[in-house]
Amino acid sequence: MEVMAPEATTPRHWLSVDDAPASEILELIDLAETHRKDSARFAGALGGKHAAMLFEKPSLRTRVSFEVGFSKLGAHGVYMDHGSERLGAREAVKDYALNLERWVDVIVARVFEHKTLEEMAAVASVPVVNALSDIEHPCQALADFQTIRQKLGTLEGVKVVWLGDGNNVCHSLMLGAASLGVSMTVITPKGFEPKFDIVRRALKASQHTAATIELTSDLAAVQGHHAVYTDKWISMGQGHQTGLRNEAFEDFRVTAELMESANKGIPGETLFMHCLPAKRGEEVTDEVIDAPSSVVYDQAENRMHAQNALLLRLFGVA
Ligand code: CP
Ligand code: NVA
Repeated sequence: MEVMAPEATTPRHWLSVDDAPASEILELIDLAETHRKDSARFAGALGGKHAAMLFEKPSLRTRVSFEVGFSKLGAHGVYMDHGSERLGAREAVKDYALNLERWVDVIVARVFEHKTLEEMAAVASVPVVNALSDIEHPCQALADFQTIRQKLGTLEGVKVVWLGDGNNVCHSLMLGAASLGVSMTVITPKGFEPKFDIVRRALKASQHTAATIELTSDLAAVQGHHAVYTDKWISMGQGHQTGLRNEAFEDFRVTAELMESANKGIPGETLFMHCLPAKRGEEVTDEVIDAPSSVVYDQAENRMHAQNALLLRLFGVA
């Protein structure tokens, strides 16, 4: 019996928003919108495929949106809880990936250290998808730009203001904004700015688009934005900094007054965005997160549509 050698493939990983050029991100958003409007059209598109889902940190949205998303496409996800045992502790990360690729078609991983993803991607013959690391949350950014376009009808001329911690979610949003031509103002307390390397990459990308990327600690810069985005002041793994962070971010709470100020000069309402989970009363008041201009649950829903679009593209199916 002749055994056919499997075709050599070059996997495209999704570790960072800038793993794809703007044209591909826009195609992903289009596909995600098609999926949102008619997901049944893609039923069974990834039939027979298997995924490993490795989680070193807790999750609601990412875990459920990937599991339900896989199921809608006819694929199957195996959840691996690494909450009590970090990847690399029992065996080398490299060996972990080289085992997994023998059984599954894609590895989705939420990790403490971004380099764990890079180590897997360096050896795996199957795509590795970043489900959040200390540096980036690219699946979130994809869903966020889909949501902005869904609500505002365009990304052109859109201005987003980030308020709070210059963290993983902020990083992916900045890279995506710069690449897609969305202007972004990042307001953080001093000492909590986004990482220098991300700022450098975003500024470089913005040179090819109409985007302006501005960093400041001045809250007055909130004026004149189509969307206000914030995240928890204390990300997963930063519990030991609670006192310090609560003090530093106290003035950065998104209140109705701040939303009003952001809306100055903007036709229509300014959207409130949050990746969730939120700590109500800390980074955002109930009044703002529960207002009609809040799109946080649309963002959560779109995680599944955006990720399914990404999976369909990674497998060259759509
Ligand atoms: N936004 C997000 O990634 O949520 P989870 O941490 O619940 O997955
Ligand atoms: N910045 C947050 C995002 C959670 C989705 C964290 O890393 O915990």
